[in-house]
Amino acid sequence: MSLLGNMINEISQERLWSRHLQLAEIGATPAGGVNRQALSSEEITARRLLVQWSSPLGLIPYSDAIGNLFLRYPGKRADAEPVLTGSHIDTQPTGGRFDGSFGVLAGLEMVEAMYAAQFKPERSIEVVAWTNEEGSRFAPGMMGSALFRGQRDLESMLKVEDLAGISVRDSVEAVRAAEPNIAGRSLGFPVAAYVEAHIEQGPILEMQQKIIGVVSGIQGKRVFRVTVKGAENHAGTSPRAMRKDALVASVDILSALHVAMHDSEDMVKFTVGFLEISPNAPSVVPSAVHFSIDLRHPDSATLNALGDAIPGLCETHCGPCTVQVKELSNDPSLEFPSAVRDVIRDVAVELDIDHMDLPSAAGHDARHLHYVCPTGMIFVPCAGGISHNEAESCKAEDLFNGARVLAGTIARLADQV
Ligand code: GLV
Ligand code: MN
Ligand code: MN
Repeated sequence: MSLLGNMINEISQERLWSRHLQLAEIGATPAGGVNRQALSSEEITARRLLVQWSSPLGLIPYSDAIGNLFLRYPGKRADAEPVLTGSHIDTQPTGGRFDGSFGVLAGLEMVEAMYAAQFKPERSIEVVAWTNEEGSRFAPGMMGSALFRGQRDLESMLKVEDLAGISVRDSVEAVRAAEPNIAGRSLGFPVAAYVEAHIEQGPILEMQQKIIGVVSGIQGKRVFRVTVKGAENHAGTSPRAMRKDALVASVDILSALHVAMHDSEDMVKFTVGFLEISPNAPSVVPSAVHFSIDLRHPDSATLNALGDAIPGLCETHCGPCTVQVKELSNDPSLEFPSAVRDVIRDVAVELDIDHMDLPSAAGHDARHLHYVCPTGMIFVPCAGGISHNEAESCKAEDLFNGARVLAGTIARLADQV
């Protein structure tokens, strides 16, 4: 048995599974899901558990100005750029147990195996938990990886507030204060390669009865926030002609957008998942509505055309109200380099695990690392393709096989000098 084979044999399905269950207890919801939003006290507790698990392996923890957490397994060449793997441990408010957590725990399991097999790679390997991938509490999402890439400006991200008015700045400070023994690190540094393991969050692998997805790329996504402003008035006395009802205007805008974004092929993904109305009182004509738009399409030109049409459609359908459209992010579709995909595929073949190539319809931190270093992703199936749902579920054996392919891939990339 080769050293690589010995190492992969040390991956433990039981440990990996039980760690998913333990992590899922932090922020557990009564319906069996997880609510562990970015930079929350729950996330602080989860980070502590990760550091606790990693410390017997000698992993060195670091965190940067946005709270990205890195756990470093030193290689033979301490000065060479590291290979990174990981994902995120924040969740949607009604999230599942595997979205994000799998990539981080698979990375940790891989280091467990390397440590047990005394496998010391040429390059150092770092397991990373990126800050605020989900973008639910603080928008935009993928904040930590976008800042790491240098796509965004730190000061403007630190000013972002949640619905309670708590800023990213104060929340990152709370995280750092809770981790006095974790050394600081510069935001962004050279990386040799990045591979992220993740549940598919769609139905394809399960339908095709495959265990591993070699991810070809990620579809483009644009995110907007729309504010419609009208005027408060009395629900019983104000005549219709005098009303500036922000909810009526929003309903018109949303139905116009819904029609404009409809395609018979079901390739356009258009979602308004957040809507806030004020003053939100039964007998007051609504004066303001604030809602989100999540728009995705695999073809960047189509995504651009559809996204560019949104402000005009909002203006045309806002009636007597005013409307403001703010774009929070605009990320085109991308294709991962074949060199990384080939390594993942070769490892799956060598381990005799059924696999297929497929694109990612969901967004991931790998999107931003793609612009930093050669990047790839490994998918495993989830039941019914259900995700961003407390019912999200995966098979322990699929997670185990995903971790095995990840370990083989990272070991190979870390030995390329
Ligand atoms: C990631 O959570 C996404 O919304 O694609
Ligand atoms: Mn995710
Ligand atoms: Mn998610």
